[in-house]
Amino acid sequence: MKLIEVKDYHEMSQVAADYLLSKVKTSDKLTLGLATGGTPQGLYEALINDHNQNRTSYQHVSSFNLDEYIGLSGKHPNSYYHYMNDHLFKHIDIDSENTHIPSGKAVDLQKECEAYDEKIRLHGGIDLQILGIGSNGHIGFNEPGTSFESNTHIVELAESTREANARYFNSIDEVPAQAITMGISSIMKSKEILLLVSGEAKQVAMKKLVEGEISENFPASILNRHEHVTVIADQEALAMVKGLELLNR
Ligand code: F6R
Repeated sequence: MKLIEVKDYHEMSQVAADYLLSKVKTSDKLTLGLATGGTPQGLYEALINDHNQNRTSYQHVSSFNLDEYIGLSGKHPNSYYHYMNDHLFKHIDIDSENTHIPSGKAVDLQKECEAYDEKIRLHGGIDLQILGIGSNGHIGFNEPGTSFESNTHIVELAESTREANARYFNSIDEVPAQAITMGISSIMKSKEILLLVSGEAKQVAMKKLVEGEISENFPASILNRHEHVTVIADQEALAMVKGLELLNR
């Protein structure tokens, strides 16, 4: 794992945008894995600013999102489908046909999960996966205890995850109890991973990621086994990590 230490959220977002843009500009075909939540919002804003200023094109880019709530249609303001359109897709020239998000309203959710992994495979896999991390170590919606062998699947959201995401809803009761998520194995198949970590709320997670053991009880720990992971973390998130040199292994 490689670490890029940055000052704050703003710098994390800009460094991540520069990293991603260098791939967008130098490839003929690029498949991105995208995340939602608070962490990548600044990255998406920076991509939009760049698009407005430099007209960087995304015509050759496809994307696969990590997850979606079960039960919310794409029109629901808290669906990740809505989030992605609102925060990125409608502001750049990516072809909506090339953007993929699992459907939380599929009649056969199991089939939806299998079809999603197959679609990623047929696309030739994900070139660059953007990840955030939950304070309990989840990546995507893979909560502690998820098998490292998991493909895209249906999950029951942990109470702590529903509480953390309740800020986007009127109350916690409105936060769906289930989601579809790319599995740990699906994520680990990405050729490269960029993990973004910012703020005090992620200090313990960051410490466990760097200093803890690799265990299904802390899903993000599997990233230590991936050959091409870059972590962009700010000073607040890194405050509890002692052996920073451990990261640049
Ligand atoms: C989002 C996702 C989640 C978030 C994580 C952190 O698509 O898969 O794993 O990355 O919950 O959320 P934030 O960024 O809101 O702290």
